[in-house]
Amino acid sequence: MTESLRPRRSCLAVPGSNPRFLEKAKSLPADQVFLDIEDAVAPLAKPDARKNIVAALNEGGWGNKIRAVRVNDLTTSWTYRDVIEVVEGAGQNLDCIMLPKVQSAAQVEWLDMLLTQIEKTMGFEVGKIGIEAQIENAQGLIAIDAIAKASPRIETLIFGPADFMASINMKTLVVGEQPAGYDVGDAYHHILMSILMAARANNKQAIDGPYLQIRDLDGYRRVAGRSAALGFDGKWVLHPGQVDIANEVYAPSQEDYDHAELILDAYDYYTSEAGGKKGSAMLGDEMIDEASRKMALVISAKGRAAGLTRTSVFTPPEA
Ligand code: GLV
Ligand code: MG
Repeated sequence: MTESLRPRRSCLAVPGSNPRFLEKAKSLPADQVFLDIEDAVAPLAKPDARKNIVAALNEGGWGNKIRAVRVNDLTTSWTYRDVIEVVEGAGQNLDCIMLPKVQSAAQVEWLDMLLTQIEKTMGFEVGKIGIEAQIENAQGLIAIDAIAKASPRIETLIFGPADFMASINMKTLVVGEQPAGYDVGDAYHHILMSILMAARANNKQAIDGPYLQIRDLDGYRRVAGRSAALGFDGKWVLHPGQVDIANEVYAPSQEDYDHAELILDAYDYYTSEAGGKKGSAMLGDEMIDEASRKMALVISAKGRAAGLTRTSVFTPPEA
């Protein structure tokens, strides 16, 4: 569980080349925005995108949103300039750099060192800017544990389904949907679980990637529901219509949140002197013990982070 990290139920992609989208993004209720200089921006538009992004970050108006910038990956010639220009220009108004197509711990270490140099040069607090690592190919997935451990700046591991499907030659063009002919399970299960395991083992957030059929909101809800059920913390949103769905799907339901708070209170009571110092006890028809408390803590933390308030209280049974 990643209690210390801020919620990232909805992570809104905003192309840095479009000042109108940058402005609009400020008003949307996404937990995070990431301003893109990578695949949503054409090569010839990248220099202007850097400038638009610096201006938009420094203008402010982002509320409580986590502000990330996605730079180009390290196989290109753009990455160092992306990082230097954006962090020198707007490092104090920036929470994270997102590194796409990460293939090794060394790539994260490079970014960590460059950030440290820029922070020292500019007089910013050293180590404050986080790193988000996109896992988008077989090399990245195989190295994922080392990537998660490569820097204390790492906050999230993000599934990049479009690039991932391309990199492993998966036979489909519809991101998130199952490849035709594979009718025995979820073709993404191994990838999602590997990202989730590395995230949980290293206390990072696990974030699901984009769903490209932006008009198909039912499809978005269905695909988001799968990674949310596994335990992912959030998902990308490419369009304003997807934001509310992500905020809902990655937060617990009111009913589950209330139930989790009841379990915590009840277990607290039953393990106490007054409750009989019991290690396991009945809550209605349900037996609860220390493992129930741990599960309830996860739901409770996600609910509190999403701003839910409880609608029921635990009353100890009559003695
Ligand atoms: C996101 O970057 C993806 O490739 O899916
Ligand atoms: Mg990608």
